[in-house]
Amino acid sequence: MSAGYMGIDVWQARTEYVRSLLGERLGVQPQRILFVGSTTEALNLTARSIVWRSGDRIVVPADEFPSVAYPWAHASHAGARLVEIPIPSESDREARVLDAIGPGTRAVAVSHVHSRTGTVLDIERVGQACQAAGALLVVDGIQAVGAIPVTIGEEVDVYCAATFKWLIAGFGLAVLVVSDRALAAMEPAYRGYENPPPDRNLRYSHWNYPVIYALAAALEFLAEISPEVIYRRVAALGGRLADGVGRLGYTVAAAPGPRAGIVSFDPHVRDAEALVTDLAERGIDVAARGGLLRVSPHFYNTASDIDRFLGTLEELVPRR
Ligand SMILES: Cc1ncc(COP(=O)(O)O)c(C=O)c1O
Repeated sequence: MSAGYMGIDVWQARTEYVRSLLGERLGVQPQRILFVGSTTEALNLTARSIVWRSGDRIVVPADEFPSVAYPWAHASHAGARLVEIPIPSESDREARVLDAIGPGTRAVAVSHVHSRTGTVLDIERVGQACQAAGALLVVDGIQAVGAIPVTIGEEVDVYCAATFKWLIAGFGLAVLVVSDRALAAMEPAYRGYENPPPDRNLRYSHWNYPVIYALAAALEFLAEISPEVIYRRVAALGGRLADGVGRLGYTVAAAPGPRAGIVSFDPHVRDAEALVTDLAERGIDVAARGGLLRVSPHFYNTASDIDRFLGTLEELVPRR
């Protein structure tokens, strides 16, 4: 703070430290970790950098978060085609994605954890299908990193996640990891002093060092608690929530299987937003997403928070 530009070595040393912490957490070499401003920027940088060919298919579930769905549109200028696949039910999500991967598929873009329903995709399995078809797997991990164990394996080509959700580090930073296979298919959309041609590195300038400092503090704080303890806690609170919601007669939206931090369900009310406001007035913060009520407890929540939510829901929405 006092050294200004002359503090650059200190900023950069902190950045390398954060890259090493993240590398350990995500199972990747620290030098593979890049930073951008947001998940949306990471996805657009990816979509704009891949050198598209005529006939390429880009597979995206039709109900994806807008930042996963929209960045691919410009690829049509090169003759690529966006294939939006309907997801009729959460238990079909993975099968529908796998079925859509075939000849001509060049990229598949998915959320690791679906932001509306909470379904966790087996990105290893999807990645293997992508590799077999010669396609690149692009994963938005914003709802996964910090909530569930994430290992970015060989079969994932691009993985990105902002730090403001489950990593509790605030806005203005996202992690981006890109495989060599993906880099070989790219021509960086942005260029600068960090990646003069013919360098294929996607880093083009400085990163957001102040938020990198915030991320360092957050990662150290989370490490004190231990990521495994946090994952277990998130899973336990989610389980309690899912059981309670089931007892009240609602159906959890996510596909059966591994659970992340998001538990969503249709509250069967005319106005889910109004229900969110009613809950907020009682000190309970949840979200409405496409008609579903989305509840996302983190490690700082307790079993009694969950029980209070369930009790208040029962009070506000008479049993069906
Ligand atoms: C799946 C998903 N992707 C992306 C975002 C937005 O991330 P960012 O603001 O880092 O672009 C969100 C939510 O804010 C999200 O739920």
